[in-house]
Amino acid sequence: MGRVFVAGSINMDVVATADRHPKVGETVAGNAVLYFPGGKGANQAVASAKLGASTTLIGRLGQDAFGDELKAFLATEGIDLSFVRQTAGAHTGTAIITVAKADNTIVVIPGANALVDAADVAGVMLGKGDIAVSQFEIPLATIDAFLERARTAGAMTILNPAPALTFDRKLLDLVDALVLNETELGLLAGGGVRESADDARFIDAARSLQTSPDQTICVTLGQRGVVALVGGAPLIIPGRMVAAIDTTGAGDCFVGALAAQLADGAAMRDALEYANAAASICVQRMGAAPSMPTAEEVEALSKRAL
Ligand code: ATP
Ligand code: RIB
Repeated sequence: MGRVFVAGSINMDVVATADRHPKVGETVAGNAVLYFPGGKGANQAVASAKLGASTTLIGRLGQDAFGDELKAFLATEGIDLSFVRQTAGAHTGTAIITVAKADNTIVVIPGANALVDAADVAGVMLGKGDIAVSQFEIPLATIDAFLERARTAGAMTILNPAPALTFDRKLLDLVDALVLNETELGLLAGGGVRESADDARFIDAARSLQTSPDQTICVTLGQRGVVALVGGAPLIIPGRMVAAIDTTGAGDCFVGALAAQLADGAAMRDALEYANAAASICVQRMGAAPSMPTAEEVEALSKRAL
């Protein structure tokens, strides 16, 4: 069985819940303020570890109370933290999140995440069968160094280009599986891919991103599920019918579950089905990292019909 290595962000999520989101310039009364471990890197590592993969997280925290709390939480999840440093001179990454009607808005203040550098990933010992995962909440140069190292070592690479931002497309040459949502796809593929577009439109847009014919491109579409290109062929996985209460971290759950399955030797199509089921559990709970499911929970769900 391979291992999962996640290079990415670690945040404290400060969540305000309200009945609806305020408009720009408006104030609304909220219901509660909650603190959850989060950050795309940490969320994906927690999902991977809870789903049974031996998981290493590479990242940085500040030397502050949030940093101590997050480190303790991640350790209890069984994640290898030997490549997580607490850094002087920057605060722990913090996300200010509003949740209303199961949907969120997020402002991320990177803090120590912005300091994760190529030296932080240089000592990571990946090998064939391992899975390297990253996202866009640490510097792009670091992601490039990490994926290059993984490629050279013969590991499989997964990139989740979130949050959406413009970047040098050469990075995609280092990617075996690209997992992105419709906003990120819209930015990358251009041509106005809308949420309401049909599956064929998403497949065309996904194909336009491929840098090699065997590269997997997976577009997550929230409750609609997933549209993907696997081995050049389209794959459509419908979303599971659930009552979502907070979708924060759903994409991260999907990526972490995918990585864990691939590390376990699953075929890409099966791994994507599994990730779709795992993420549907995540959205039924509040918070990001704490909402990741266990392998037993996903197994129980997989035995049920859609
Ligand atoms: P976030 O940024 O909130 O973490 P995202 O935009 O990256 O999420 P989504 O496409 O919203 O990711 O969701 C990822 C996956 O989670 C979906 O492909 C699906 O498998 C699952 N999912 C999300 N929302 C729902 C839902 N309401 N019902 C069932 N499954 C869902
Ligand atoms: O993807 C969800 C995550 O994005 C949250 O946990 C928040 O920290 C932001 O990084």
